[in-house]
Amino acid sequence: KGAGLINIAIDGPAGAGKSTVARKVAEQLRYVYIDTGAMYRAVTFGALRAGIEPGDSEQVGSLAASLDIRLLPSENGQKVVLGGEDVTEQIRSREINLRVSRVAAIEQVRTRLVSMQRELAGRKGVVMDGRDIGTHVLPDAELKVFLTASVRIRAERRYRETGQADRVDLEQLEREIEQRDRLDSEREISPLICAEDAVVIDSTSLTIEQVVSQIVELSRTKKVEA
Ligand code: DC
Repeated sequence: KGAGLINIAIDGPAGAGKSTVARKVAEQLRYVYIDTGAMYRAVTFGALRAGIEPGDSEQVGSLAASLDIRLLPSENGQKVVLGGEDVTEQIRSREINLRVSRVAAIEQVRTRLVSMQRELAGRKGVVMDGRDIGTHVLPDAELKVFLTASVRIRAERRYRETGQADRVDLEQLEREIEQRDRLDSEREISPLICAEDAVVIDSTSLTIEQVVSQIVELSRTKKVEA
């Protein structure tokens, strides 16, 4: 298995549309979609539930080592199961948004999740989205995309997808996104940076479908080479 299949890495800042795009690309190519952000979110959720502060790297680190995290393909992309419980919805809350960058900066957490991610990509034919996929997790991915967009448009997109209970104003959302960008880009381990060999796509004035078809096209050129 795996002949002719490639791996596709999609990295970029929060709200650039990575997960929607990655899911649709996977659908069209009949590949497996893997949302690595969901894994960091699941650890954050586990910590919160266990009453561990996201800043307590030792405790969060050892928790991450013991958590049973599973990603299951589902109709709308991917289901996240933590210790047997479906937490797909719960890991999208603002509470998690505000804490996940701290958890993602913990070395022990990254080591565990990165090894899970490499294992999932081992058979090829995956579209994986995250922050460090092209630079660190899958440096040999045949296609690397760095997907970005202006802070304002990313905040607007997030605004539309946040539930009523979590609703904050657009300006605040913009500040939170900037803050998360900063934490993700400035952390010591595997910060968010564009891989040298990545194709940069700025989605500010593109539709999702346009971005998806660009990536699918690119993947076809890669396949021919292989
Ligand atoms: O893509 P997302 O918003 O679900 O990601 C949640 C957080 O996880 C984000 O703040 C950065 C972190 N993350 C990471 O550090 N490395 C990844 N490969 C994916 C996500």
